[in-house]
Amino acid sequence: MTASGTNSPAGGRASVSAAWELLLPVASAPARGRGRALQTALREAVRSGRLAPGTRLPASRELAADLGVSRGLVTEAYEQLTAESYLRSGRGSGTWVSGSARAAAGGARDLAPRARRVSVDFRPGTPDLSLFPRSAWAAAHRSALGRLPHGALGYPDPRGLPELRDALAALLTRRRGVVADPERLLVCSGVAQATTLLGFVLHGRGIRTVGVEDPGSPEHTALFASAGVATAPVPLDEEGLALEPLARSGVRAVVTTPAHQFPTGVAYSAARRSRLLEWARQTGGLVVEDDYDGDFRYDRAPVGSLQGLDPERVAYTGSVSKSLAPGLRLGWLIAPASMTDELVDRKRTMDLGNPALDQAVLADFVSGGGYDRQLRRCQRAYRERRDVLTRALAEHVPGSEVSGVAAGLHAIARLPEGWGPEAEFAERAAGAGIAVRLLREYGTARPAEGCVRLVLGYAHLAPADIVRGVRALAGLGRKPS
Ligand SMILES: Cc1ncc(COP(=O)(O)O)c(C=O)c1O
Repeated sequence: MTASGTNSPAGGRASVSAAWELLLPVASAPARGRGRALQTALREAVRSGRLAPGTRLPASRELAADLGVSRGLVTEAYEQLTAESYLRSGRGSGTWVSGSARAAAGGARDLAPRARRVSVDFRPGTPDLSLFPRSAWAAAHRSALGRLPHGALGYPDPRGLPELRDALAALLTRRRGVVADPERLLVCSGVAQATTLLGFVLHGRGIRTVGVEDPGSPEHTALFASAGVATAPVPLDEEGLALEPLARSGVRAVVTTPAHQFPTGVAYSAARRSRLLEWARQTGGLVVEDDYDGDFRYDRAPVGSLQGLDPERVAYTGSVSKSLAPGLRLGWLIAPASMTDELVDRKRTMDLGNPALDQAVLADFVSGGGYDRQLRRCQRAYRERRDVLTRALAEHVPGSEVSGVAAGLHAIARLPEGWGPEAEFAERAAGAGIAVRLLREYGTARPAEGCVRLVLGYAHLAPADIVRGVRALAGLGRKPS
C-alpha cells in the first residue's frame, strides 16, 4: 500500500509510518457496509491515536485504489469525519487528522496530566512502532492458529517451539553468520532475559563479576545485578573494547555490542574482534555478544557476528525488539554447548517457556519471508532518517560532528565547543521541550569541560520532527544571559 500521502504539515517528507494498513479490513466488509466500515475504522484510528494529529491522509483516489473501493466512498468518509471534527481539510492542501480530534473525541489517555510536554523526543532505544507490519502479522496469526494442533497449546518446550528454532537458526546463519544449531538455540523474552539467564548460570559457576562496556547500556548492569552478578566497567577505544584494561580487570566474562556499540556507535574492528576471542581462549573466558543493531548498517553490508568466529567462546543474544517491536518480548540465545543444558533448566524454572502461539506466529513470519521484508522496510526508513539528522546538524549546528558508523537507530553528535557545560545544556533542552540523553550518562568518564555529546535516537521520529528538533537544539547554543 502506498504511503505517499504522509507528508507532515511542516512540509518535510514524513515517515512512511501512517498505519494505513489498519484500514485494510474495510476491503473485506460487505459491499453495502463498506462506507460505514471505512468511517468507523478511520474514526477509531484517530480516537486511539494510531493516526496522530497532523497526519496527512492519502489523496482519496490513492486510498480508494489501495483499498479497492470507489473514490466516492472515500470522499464521503473524509467529508463525514471532517464534519465531526476528526479531520480537517484545506482548499487544495489535502486532508489532515485534526489537532484537537482526540480531545474532542474524549481521548482519555491524551488528557492525562503531564508534567512537561516533550515536543521532540530524541532519547534512543525505540524503533518506529508504526512500521510494525500489522496485516502481515495478522495473516501469520491466522495461519498459525489454523495449522496448530490442539496439543501445541500445551506447555511448550522451554527451549522454544522446534519450528521457530529451525526458522531462527536458518535466519541467523544466513543474515548474521551465526553458527546456529537449532538444538542449541533458546527462544527467550528478548536480550534482557537472555542476559539474566546467562547471569544465573555464570553465578552458579562462581562468577560474581562480569565486564561491561564503558560507556555502555545500563540495562546490562541492571540485568546481571538481578542474577546476583556485579559488573566492572571496561573502557572502549575507537576499535572497540580496550583489551589491556579487560585483562587487568580479571573478569572471566564480558558483555559486548560489537556490530554497533551502544551507545558510542563504534563497530568493532576485525583486529579487535580476533584479539577479544584470543583473550577468551587464553583465560577460559566467555564473550557475551549482544547483537545490538546488527541488522541495520547503512554504508556497507553488516559485519557478521562475533559468535560465528568462535561459537564455543561466545554466547550470542538478539531479539525482534528493534526490527519488529519490543513489546513482543521475543528473542534468542545461542551459548557454548557446555552451558546449554543449564540455561534451559533456568529458563524452565523461570517461566516454563515463551508463549507458544507467539512463537508459532514468528516462525511463520520468518519462514514466509515477512521478516526479511520488514528488515528491508525498516532499513530504508532508518537510513533516510539518519541522513536527515546528519544533514540537519550540518546545516543548523555548524561545527557539530556526528561520530560512529552509519548504522542502527541512534547517532552520537558532539556539539560545538562552548555549548556546555553538559548538565546546563540538557536543562535548556528540557526547558525547550526537547528530550535528549548525554553520552556521559552511559559511562564513568568525565567529559571535557564545555563539550556536549548527545546520543540522538532518530529511528522513531518522522524526518520533519528530526529537523524541527535539530532546529530547536540549534537555538540553545547561546546560554541565556
Ligand atoms: C544495549 C541493549 N541491549 C539489549 C536491550 C534489551 O533488549 P530486548 O528488548 O531484546 O530485551 C537493551 C534495552 O534497552 C539495550 O539497551
